[in-house]
Amino acid sequence: MAISHTSPMLPEGALQDKIILVTGGGSGLGKSMTTYFSKLGAKVAISSRKMERLEKAAKEISDETGNEVFPFACDIRDYAQVEALRDAIQDKWGSPDVVLNNAAGNFISPTERLSANAFDAIIDIVLKGTKNVTLAFGKKWIAEKATDRVFLNIVTTYAWTGSSYVVPSAMAKAGVLAMTRSLAIEWAKYGIRSNAIAPGPFPTEGAWARLLPGDTSEKLNVVNQIPLRRSGEHQELNNLAAYMVSPFSRYMNGEVVTLDGGEWLQDAGQLNFLEAVSEQEWDMLEKLTKSAK
Ligand code: HXC
Ligand code: NAP
Repeated sequence: MAISHTSPMLPEGALQDKIILVTGGGSGLGKSMTTYFSKLGAKVAISSRKMERLEKAAKEISDETGNEVFPFACDIRDYAQVEALRDAIQDKWGSPDVVLNNAAGNFISPTERLSANAFDAIIDIVLKGTKNVTLAFGKKWIAEKATDRVFLNIVTTYAWTGSSYVVPSAMAKAGVLAMTRSLAIEWAKYGIRSNAIAPGPFPTEGAWARLLPGDTSEKLNVVNQIPLRRSGEHQELNNLAAYMVSPFSRYMNGEVVTLDGGEWLQDAGQLNFLEAVSEQEWDMLEKLTKSAK
C-alpha cells in the first residue's frame, strides 16, 4: 500500500495494553485520536458531560477496533467528578499510563459583548478543567511511585500569539501551555512527562459550529490563511498524538508541537506579504535590488 499523509504511522501494537484517558473523547478530534489509540491496542477511557454520546462513540470505536473503550460521564469543571473518573478507571483497568487533556469549550465573540459568566464558561472548562484532571491524576501517579507516565495537552497556536474574538480561550490555552512547560520540569523526577500539541484548523462539528458558523469558512476563504492551502486531516493529528503518547517519544518533555500547515507564522514574518509578488514583478525587483550595490 502506498504511504500518504493520511496513512496510519505507528507499527501495529505500538500502544498494546496502554491505559489511556481521553477527555472529550466522544466527539471531534478526541474521538479520532481515541479510535487510533484503540486500533494500536490501547485500552481507552473516554469522558465528557454527555453519557449518551460517549456510549455511542465507545461502541462505534470498539466495533471498529475490537478493543474495549470505557465511557464515563465527567464534568471536568468539578474536582469531585474528576476524582470519581480517576477511581472508576482504577477499578476497571488500573492506573492510566497516559492522560490526554483534550476537552474544551469555545465560541467567537467581541470581548465587550461577553458577560462575566460567558467568560467563566470557557475558562472553567479549559483552564480549571484541565488543571482538575492534571492535579487528580498527577497526585495519583506520584503517590503510586509510577514511572513513565504522560500528560498530552491539546492547546492552540494562539496560546502564544493571543487572538481577538476568542480571548477567554486564548487566556485559558496560554495557561494550559504554561502548566505543560512548568510540570515538565517539576514532575520529571516522578517519571511524568508533559507535552502539548497545537493544532491548526482540523474540521470538526464542535469547533466549526462555534468558530466558523454557517458558510463563514467558505466566505472568508479560511484555507487561504494557511500556506499549505488546506486544513488538517484527522489522521495527521492521530499519528502525532500516538507518537507523543508512545514509548517512541520517551525523550520528549516540555515540548509543544505545532501542526498547522504554517498558519500561525503566515502573518508573523515581516516580509511574508511578498507572497503576492508575481514572477514578472520579481524580475523587476531583482534588477532594482541588484542595482542597490
Ligand atoms: C456569547 C455566549 C455564547 C455565545 C454561550 N454564551 N454561548 N455568549 N456568545 N456564542 C454565554 C451564555 O449566554 C451564558 O452567559 C454563558 O455563556 C454560559 O453559557 P451556557 O450555555 O450555560 O454554558 P455551558 O452549558 O457551560 O456550555 C459551554 C459552551 C458550549 C462553551 C458555551 O458551547 C459548549 O458546551 N461547548 C463545548 C464544545 C466546544 O465548545 N467545542 C469547541 C472547541 S473548539 P449568561 O451571562 O447568559 O449566563 C476550540 C478550537 C480552538 O477550542 C482553536 C481553533 C483555531
Ligand atoms: P469538540 O468535538 O467540541 O470537542 C470538545 C469536547 O470537550 C467535547 O467532546 C465535549 O463533550 C468536551 N467537553 C466540553 N466541556 C466539557 C466539560 N465541562 N467536561 C468534560 N468534557 C467537556 O471540538 P474539537 O474540535 O474536537 O476540539 C478538541 C480539542 O482540540 C480542544 O481542546 C480544542 O481546543 C482543540 N483544537 C481544535 C482545533 C480544531 O480545528 N478543531 C484547533 C485547535 C485546537 P461534552 O459536550 O459531551 O461535554
